[in-house]
Amino acid sequence: MEVGFIGLGIMGSRMAANLLARGFSLTVHNRTAAKAEELLRQGARWAERPAAAAAKADVLVTMLADPAAVHAAALGKEGFLAALRPGTLWIDCSTVDPSFSRRMAQEARGRGVRFLDAPAAGTKGPAEAGQLVFFVGGAAGDLQEAGPLLQAMGRSVLHVGENGMGTSLKMVVNLMLGQAMAAFAEALRLGEALGLGKEKLLETLLGGAVAAPFLSGKKQKVLAERFEPEFPLKWMAKDLHLAAQAAFECAAALPCGAAAKELYSLAAAHGWGEQDFSAIYGFLGRAPAGSPPAGRASAG
Ligand SMILES: NC(=O)c1ccc[n+]([C@@H]2O[C@H](COP(=O)([O-])OP(=O)(O)OC[C@H]3O[C@@H](n4cnc5c(N)ncnc54)[C@H](OP(=O)(O)O)[C@@H]3O)[C@@H](O)[C@H]2O)c1
Repeated sequence: MEVGFIGLGIMGSRMAANLLARGFSLTVHNRTAAKAEELLRQGARWAERPAAAAAKADVLVTMLADPAAVHAAALGKEGFLAALRPGTLWIDCSTVDPSFSRRMAQEARGRGVRFLDAPAAGTKGPAEAGQLVFFVGGAAGDLQEAGPLLQAMGRSVLHVGENGMGTSLKMVVNLMLGQAMAAFAEALRLGEALGLGKEKLLETLLGGAVAAPFLSGKKQKVLAERFEPEFPLKWMAKDLHLAAQAAFECAAALPCGAAAKELYSLAAAHGWGEQDFSAIYGFLGRAPAGSPPAGRASAG
């Protein structure tokens, strides 16, 4: 199977490496070419433009930042949609909003291309280990065809429903993820302000029933106050923005989510966006100027 892969950031580079390791024939493209070097050494071919990654593909995978990035790669100058052969399958693993996924499905259909929205749950480590969980929206037959490819990158593939439902579930999951991290950071900062030790607070919160399981994985970052990015804070701000947009479209209210969204947006505006989203703890304890302390801003 010929696979085109576009988007070689933290997640995409690792997902593409797993496809190569499982014997898929891969042509890759990334806006910043240097990020493809390791994959090219491992046997991937380079495509200078998104369209070139699509020319011979049976399946095209995108793992891009946000709706604007996906739109540019698909429908911009030398975009891949016009270059895909009719009947091929486009799998978008990027975290985007459901309406955007449905629009892309329609654009694809108009060109005879099949489409699955298949955002991934799991971060840098699971991406590297091929342990992601995919939430898929689209036709069951298309998913069956995509199964071996998704299984090469993940441990679980969940068919949620029609196009847009994979990204719908991803919105719900990341809404909770963002709020849980922010609530944890806020509770820690309150405890510290009350004079409780950080070690004792972490032990109590993480050892009890109130903390979400993923928070244990953030313990070392919080302890060391070094936030090397696994899931960049700017993408959490983006996901909460997309969740708010999706909520407005279906007349749901997100009062707690809106507060969390503004908190991450504020942190990003103060220069914390490139760090892991657990840096919201750092932001809440920031110096009055609001800047990340020297040496932490460009981690990773
Ligand atoms: N990191 C995680 O833990 C995680 C987990 C699950 C889902 N996600 C989602 O997965 C997606 C990728 O995340 P990531 O962590 O891999 O982010 P990342 O490292 O920042 O990579 C983003 C990718 O998008 C490309 N891109 C950004 N803007 C673009 C544009 N305007 N035109 C073309 N390409 C553009 C980047 O190209 P350049 O290299 O040229 O910048 C890069 O390939 C996001 O939707 C994110 O929300 C992330």
